[in-house]
Amino acid sequence: MVIRLMATVITVMNMKGGVGKTTVAMHLGGILSRYELRGKRRRALLIDYDPQFNLSQAFLPAKKYFELESSRKTTIAILQDEETNLDPFQLQVPGNMEPPKIGDLAYSLFSPQTGSGLDLIPSTLDLMYIALGQSDKRTEPIEERFHKFISACRDEYDVIIIDCHPAGSIFTKTSLRNSDHVIIPVAPERYAVRGIGLMMQFIKAKQLGTSGPEAHILFNSVPRKGTAREEILIRANSRFKDNCMTNTLKWYKAFSDPMEGKGFVWMSRKPYSTLAFINLMAVVRELIDRTNL
Ligand SMILES: Nc1ncnc2c1ncn2[C@@H]1O[C@H](COP(=O)(O)OP(=O)(O)OP(=O)(O)O)[C@@H](O)[C@H]1O
Ligand SMILES: [Mg+2]
Repeated sequence: MVIRLMATVITVMNMKGGVGKTTVAMHLGGILSRYELRGKRRRALLIDYDPQFNLSQAFLPAKKYFELESSRKTTIAILQDEETNLDPFQLQVPGNMEPPKIGDLAYSLFSPQTGSGLDLIPSTLDLMYIALGQSDKRTEPIEERFHKFISACRDEYDVIIIDCHPAGSIFTKTSLRNSDHVIIPVAPERYAVRGIGLMMQFIKAKQLGTSGPEAHILFNSVPRKGTAREEILIRANSRFKDNCMTNTLKWYKAFSDPMEGKGFVWMSRKPYSTLAFINLMAVVRELIDRTNL
């Protein structure tokens, strides 16, 4: 009997930059694929949907990254045909509505045992052409390709995690449209509330009519002792309080160490940073429950 998976799609998003989107995406993917939690290990796909390609750099040695980028095994291939003339001022819409096959793009980072593992589709700076491109035609073919690609991925993974860039664009729109859940990392600082307000409005706009993604606010880089005033205020705000996760991700240097596939708290057998690992596990367990993963 063939058991078909039906992946949960999670976008990590906040229009405000530098709040921990990439950090959350990489560690969530790592834990879910590597550890047995709530009775299973998961097959996870990470999609780098940010032209800055920070998520790709965290996992791939430079040589490997350039090899994948030059053979077009990156997110841009989902959206655009190879022969497309990339022009920052005039977006060319792909003539072909069929995205590539998952197996042609997904790079296996590790697969500890059958039925679990972590794959990555790296990003490329060339995505900027699409982010900036003013379309005089309609962008539907690009949106359709992304939708078809994610739908196909749902059959092959348990969880798909999209690290989305911090701006409003066709990337934001397509990733919200195709997600079941949105994790909004929030660094508790003075202007954090603006970023959350904007995100919640984007998500609500999507929820009208169809069932849109569910939002989960994750406070990140919080002090290990005490609670920041901004966090208290956001939790007390009636617009946000139901969406706030109970657990927070604290500031640990170890969370910022990953580079070229090394330095992950969940990777080595000996404790890399035990406290950071325990903190991360608590956050991931809560996410599993909230998203029914
Ligand atoms: N919990 C944490 N503890 C320590 N450092 C952290 C933590 N979360 C994030 N950082 C560090 O903060 C910086 C910003 O994080 P990250 O790159 O994940 O943010 P981002 O939201 O993806 O940024 P961008 O908007 O540029 O995509 C990075 O240097 C990262 O290593
Ligand atoms: Mg990022």
